[in-house]
Amino acid sequence: MLAVGTNDVGLLTFAMPVHESLSRGIATVFDKYVIFWQKGYQSTDNVEGSATSKLKGVAYTNISNSSDLRTPFPERYTRVWDVSDYVIPAQQTNGFFVMTNMVLSPMQSRGACPEDPEIDRDACTTDVECKPDEGIITGNGIKTGRCVNATHPKTKEATTVCEVKAWCPVEVDIRPLWTSAILEEAENFTVLIKNSISFPKFGFVKRNILDTTDPMYLRSCRYSRLKDPLCPIFRLGTIVAETGQSFRQMAIKGGVITIDIQWNCNLDLSYKLCLPKYRFIRADEQDAKIAGGFNFSWFDTPLRVGFGKFYRINDTEYRDLTKAYGILFQVKITGVAGKFDIVPLMLNFASGVALLSLATVMCDVVVLYLLKKRKYYKEAKFQNVASNENGPQKTYEEVAALCEQALVTSLPITQLNNNHQTPPGMGGSNHSLRDEITHPTTNETKKPTSL
Ligand SMILES: *[C@@H]1O[C@H](CO)[C@@H](O)[C@H](O)[C@H]1NC(C)=O
Repeated sequence: MLAVGTNDVGLLTFAMPVHESLSRGIATVFDKYVIFWQKGYQSTDNVEGSATSKLKGVAYTNISNSSDLRTPFPERYTRVWDVSDYVIPAQQTNGFFVMTNMVLSPMQSRGACPEDPEIDRDACTTDVECKPDEGIITGNGIKTGRCVNATHPKTKEATTVCEVKAWCPVEVDIRPLWTSAILEEAENFTVLIKNSISFPKFGFVKRNILDTTDPMYLRSCRYSRLKDPLCPIFRLGTIVAETGQSFRQMAIKGGVITIDIQWNCNLDLSYKLCLPKYRFIRADEQDAKIAGGFNFSWFDTPLRVGFGKFYRINDTEYRDLTKAYGILFQVKITGVAGKFDIVPLMLNFASGVALLSLATVMCDVVVLYLLKKRKYYKEAKFQNVASNENGPQKTYEEVAALCEQALVTSLPITQLNNNHQTPPGMGGSNHSLRDEITHPTTNETKKPTSL
């Protein structure tokens, strides 16, 4: 019935500055009605749903010949990576974390060893300076009380540091490459997202993998916003690109991305037409912007998880420690469905009737107080005045009717006017109400317009 989008701010937004707040207020109230009216015959329900994900992709890395090398232990990063290596933890509901970069510290065992010189540089010259049983803030262990020789891992310089009780040798926390991530190839990994939803109120259930989808298609398709927006298999690089980010940059220190699966359905239409829409949002920087307020970059807040894999050799417990940087993908399911219902229809019908009478009152306000020629209309409304002094005029009734028509059909008045030929004998003026709504301080004696 009403042919206006929700962004259409209605008919009064063109008013002059002083009226701006007033007209915006009226427009907002009015707009609410329009939204209400658009699906006013439906009752609604929010989506319920769950999602699981399955990643695919294998990579082989070898950085020993890299010109970008930063770590003193490049050989640790020569290896193959499959799903069990880079998805941490293995199963997560409504999300998944993909490791893209890491610091590896293999074969650590409990013992005493020099602290990382990067943490405790030139910490001591004698044992006295290494107080026993004292921890080092952000360090790897508890001091033993001895000052020992060590080699700086980056500069290879000899130095002295406090010895610590720790997992030894201690982790040297240096990302392996300066300007890129180890697992850049994760850009080409894919994830299949299986999503089931329901609108409980309407007993409606559906999945994002459509029943009609043929298995061959599912094996080969890749999501693309323009070319294949319904394919449930996503290349990680595509997801990150959709947020406006560079995967390669994000892979270095990680980040958080929300995958929003939107189900906005009109259940009065065919089952087939209720389809998901995918949106991708970078979630971490936005939070940081609110918190920081300055030109914050998420590169400053790495997303990092540490974990060990433990094993025993000859009764000694060892661990391979991994500090993983990666991208956390959160899957969120949102949406609303509407379906015909007689109750809201009657309610909205009633408020629609109220709107009609409201429109009359509002148009009175517009015509009698806001238009340039309000004085004339006031007289025309309350007295019978001969109206031919300034040439042909619209009568009060005509202007008010125009206003009401605009209000009720919610067409912007300019549009109404463009499509609306002034009948002959009405002065042939082709200006609209828009021209007539003026600043209230406009001098009444100003050169009259053709109204
Ligand atoms: C991803 O795949 C494309 C095409 O196969 C290739 O050109 C590109 O180098 C790959 N990206 C990475 C980071 O390996």
